[in-house]
Amino acid sequence: MTDSGAYRRAYDAAATDPDAFWLDAARAVDWTVPPTRALDSSRPPFYRWFPDGELNTCVNALDRHVASGAGDRVALIHDSAMTGTRASYTYAELLDLVARFAGVLREHGVGTGDRVVIYLPMIPEAVIAMLACARLGAVHSVVFGGFAAKELAARLDDAAPVAVVTATGGLEPGRTVDYVEPVRTALALSTASPSAVIVKRRTEIPAEVPADWVDFDDALAAASPADPVAVAATDPLYVLYTSGTTGKPKGVVRDNGGHAVALTWSMRAIYDIGPGQVMWTASDVGWVVGHSYIVYGPLFAGATTVLYEGKPVGTPDAGAFWRVIADHDVRVLFTAPTALRAIRKVDPDAALLASYDTSGLDALFVAGERLDPDTFAWASRVLDRPVVDHWWQTETGWPICANLRGLEPMPIKAGSPTVPVPGFRVAVVDASGGPVPAGTEGSIVVELPLPPGTLTGLWNDETRYVESYLSAFDGYYLTGDSGLIDEDGYLTVLGRTDDVINVAGHRLSTGSIEAVVATHPAVAECAVIGVHDETKGQKPSAYVVLKAGADITEDQLRTDLIAAVRADIGAVASFKDVTVVAALPKTRSGKILRKTMRQMADGAEVVVPSTIEDASVLDALAEAFRGRV
Ligand code: COA
Ligand code: AMP
Repeated sequence: MTDSGAYRRAYDAAATDPDAFWLDAARAVDWTVPPTRALDSSRPPFYRWFPDGELNTCVNALDRHVASGAGDRVALIHDSAMTGTRASYTYAELLDLVARFAGVLREHGVGTGDRVVIYLPMIPEAVIAMLACARLGAVHSVVFGGFAAKELAARLDDAAPVAVVTATGGLEPGRTVDYVEPVRTALALSTASPSAVIVKRRTEIPAEVPADWVDFDDALAAASPADPVAVAATDPLYVLYTSGTTGKPKGVVRDNGGHAVALTWSMRAIYDIGPGQVMWTASDVGWVVGHSYIVYGPLFAGATTVLYEGKPVGTPDAGAFWRVIADHDVRVLFTAPTALRAIRKVDPDAALLASYDTSGLDALFVAGERLDPDTFAWASRVLDRPVVDHWWQTETGWPICANLRGLEPMPIKAGSPTVPVPGFRVAVVDASGGPVPAGTEGSIVVELPLPPGTLTGLWNDETRYVESYLSAFDGYYLTGDSGLIDEDGYLTVLGRTDDVINVAGHRLSTGSIEAVVATHPAVAECAVIGVHDETKGQKPSAYVVLKAGADITEDQLRTDLIAAVRADIGAVASFKDVTVVAALPKTRSGKILRKTMRQMADGAEVVVPSTIEDASVLDALAEAFRGRV
């Protein structure tokens, strides 16, 4: 039930008395030791939530629903457009599998606080493994299956897992993605020495696996269930690596208590999903969107979640999303705008929609990249449902700005993710940290402390956490996005202020692509920037200066670099653009002017910095951009 003014009341309550607001929200969570305090601000800027509370996250996702008599309700539907199969698991069935897999992990030495790296495709075992870690109070770190061995190795190094859970492979349209070799290579490259590698042998992907790897199904069949282990609310639940400005990924740390409270609150207030209703988040468990709204959020709410292995188009056609909505009576679909653009490209009038009964759909939520007004208008027209843009990041774990449909639906403005979610005090500031007038672009920041459910730090790296997010503007968290707030308090996100790019909703660092490009023997220096792409939003584009006397054609160089990025980072980088240029624009101190290059590539107004070494380089570069478009 929604009422007018509910949003403003909730926003003000969370801002003026966060303790009361979040302690009240915490009542919706099952605690072994209920918290008596919400915010611990004893060591700013390292804020903690619910410092004296204890709970188990898996209990909140599964056991509590079974205990309250909902064991027969469907918790998880696996729908694979790749294999044409479907399976569903009730809460009782999922609990049984999770408890037994927790038993497997425990037998292999995984205890509270130990890390488990999960490198799995979109199969139920991914959800089972995540929840089994949570049951033991262990810390999972899921690595997206589209990342190649070196990226996996970097994450293994940092997380130092006690166990790795993987599968024989994943399925992409027209090809099988082998997981065994990347895991072997990554383990060989890495300093990590897990005591077990547990592998799910997919019947559709037979593979030779090392003799000392543990078979997922055999181990599960033989295991005895593990009881849940209560942990401190402030203990870590997971580490999720995300791209930063440098090539080294950042391990975003999420706690148990704040996460359970925030996601539980968000399910009703933002998505308006309750027990028994179906939420389908068409993302991947390797991203934060998958963590929060394929796995944890819907299960905390006692809802039914859909795990979809497939694409919006080509599996088999552009009606795939409408088919899943109809087959599973989906109430809320959450996806990335790129998926909508992909559907629109193939089926401009969404003619295939007419073949399916999608009447159960209440709203479409999108995030991951900006929802351009054109795609918004198209989706609103063909679906005839609210299309809700909402803005968030791996770091925040749940939406910073949204249209809170369960609390009080607000008028939608094309191009805006609406208003700050209660708990997030969003501001737009200029370079010196001063507030800018309404409608003026600036850096988007959030006043500290952030609400529950947001990152508590970076794994093993307090210094980087402070430097990356907390030191630019005193008292504020730096989102890395620029944008503006209009007279009505609506936010518009315009883009990143750093070298992070968003390719088909996948967050990548241009720095890590540059690091691969720079290793080519013919490359003297290079810059990789994100340029506009009609379907994927952005794509990486490399500008390369050759070494004097380098004997290579541009075509050969392109072929080499595409193969290298695919091998080192993964196919998901969608790296295809390479342009040889005579020089890169630099400051007199030798810093490459990537921001200026981005402005040129986007056709935006170019602000030539006074520190530029040689402005004529920009003219030559402008030629290169003209040639590309
Ligand atoms: N494992 C292995 N490879 C993967 C992969 C995975 N999990 N995910 C993607 N890839 C591969 C693809 O097969 C493709 O390989 P190719 O170059 O050999 O064709 C490459 O990585 C690029 O993938 P992608 O950018 O996803 O392009 P696509 O053409 O396969 O699909 C979309 C385009 C728009 C349909 C798809 O990106 C999509 O559905 N995006 C939604 C993204 C999303 O949910 N983001 C999460 C935030 S909400
Ligand atoms: P990720 O951490 O992968 O979720 O990526 C977070 C980044 O994606 C944000 O910092 C934004 O740059 C971008 N992003 C996510 N959602 C939106 C949105 N709704 N509108 C604009 N940009 C978005």
